[in-house]
Amino acid sequence: MSDLVQLDGQQPHSEPTGQHVEQAVRERYSAASREREASLCCPVQYDGRYLAILPDELIERDYGCGDPSRYVREGDRVLDLGSGGGKICYIASQIVGSSGCVIGVDMNDDMLALARRHRQTIAERIGWDNVAFHKGRIQDLALDLERFEDWLAEHPIRDANGWLLAQQQADLMRRQTPMIADGSVDVVLSNCVLNLVSPGDRQMLFEELFRTLAPGGRAVISDIVCDEVVPQRLRDDPELWSGCISGAFVEDEFLNAFLVAAFEGIEIVSRQAEPWATIEGIEFRSMTVRAWKPVDDEPLDLNQAVVYRGPCTAVVDEDGNLIPRGERTAVSSVDARRFAREPYAEQLVLIEPHTPVDPATAEPFRGEHHGTRSLAEIKGQGFRLTSLPGDSCCGGSADGSSCC
Ligand SMILES: C[S@@+](CC[C@H](N)C(=O)[O-])C[C@H]1O[C@@H](n2cnc3c(N)ncnc32)[C@H](O)[C@@H]1O
Repeated sequence: MSDLVQLDGQQPHSEPTGQHVEQAVRERYSAASREREASLCCPVQYDGRYLAILPDELIERDYGCGDPSRYVREGDRVLDLGSGGGKICYIASQIVGSSGCVIGVDMNDDMLALARRHRQTIAERIGWDNVAFHKGRIQDLALDLERFEDWLAEHPIRDANGWLLAQQQADLMRRQTPMIADGSVDVVLSNCVLNLVSPGDRQMLFEELFRTLAPGGRAVISDIVCDEVVPQRLRDDPELWSGCISGAFVEDEFLNAFLVAAFEGIEIVSRQAEPWATIEGIEFRSMTVRAWKPVDDEPLDLNQAVVYRGPCTAVVDEDGNLIPRGERTAVSSVDARRFAREPYAEQLVLIEPHTPVDPATAEPFRGEHHGTRSLAEIKGQGFRLTSLPGDSCCGGSADGSSCC
């Protein structure tokens, strides 16, 4: 399939040999859907307000390792990859409200049955019904496996020709009626699932995350990461793999996978201090990463600038541009919009020109303009206004506060 996500000078995580990991994962989570498996549980503090209406079996069969639902907002269209018993979907459903919607995708029939069993009851308790679960592989989000199974029931595979025909049909379904369409969701969540995907499919998995997000949308992924490459011997152990251990991403490999897929604003929003497990000195812990899909627009020169607040001497953005602390650094219209919102806005102050430049007549932004924005560009040529604070201001008000 696709190339491995690889960092320069590092051994990539290789494919486990022997039994295909997906089958081991399927068997393990079928059992875990019927009865809680304590060794798959990683303690997570969810917001209790959202758990109150959930049936006990969904709370106890929680196999997550973080809480990506904290980054969901009202009105969002949410996609949860590897939704399991549906807990994150039902939490997100309460946060997005009746104007948003939530889709859970899982490849396991038993997990899907567990999640779907409570849909009606939970919808009645919440007051709206905005959650749907689909059967699919998260590295192939265009193919709805239940629809494909319906087709297979009518066209059973008897020989190689039948197998080739089925592959063509799957491609047709991906193109004509994708399970998750391009740019159709605002947030992609996942809780402790990506590590279970075969390394050979991981690049495709990140491409799918990117494809399904709307421009400006975000991925929030909680997963198990490790601090060293896991030896092949441990990766070949189906118990360790399906237990969310030996398939863990090496930390920097995990972050780099978002970069390779063209995400921006990639940040670690939480990282467990103590390891969840340690094997032969390798530490495995939970990490949550948030990353954004860029808005694809023509970069114009609208005389805008940003000032980096510090505390470091300078920062370097994803395109390699240096933004020194305290300097008015010229930016394009695309970067200005990007830096004015999460996650950059806390560190960068956007400076707009006194006289806005009309985008219809603006010049394209040229990379070589990156550097200090002149005051003439910000304030206009010949700007010599004098304006002193009036008497009523800056003298302190009755409540003791000052206005400047
Ligand atoms: C560790 S559990 C996490 C479940 C859920 N996110 C939670 O927080 O409880 C992993 C889930 O991902 C599903 N899964 C694993 N690999 C998958 C894949 N390639 N495609 C779809 N689902 C997958 C499993 O069936 C299982 O339900």
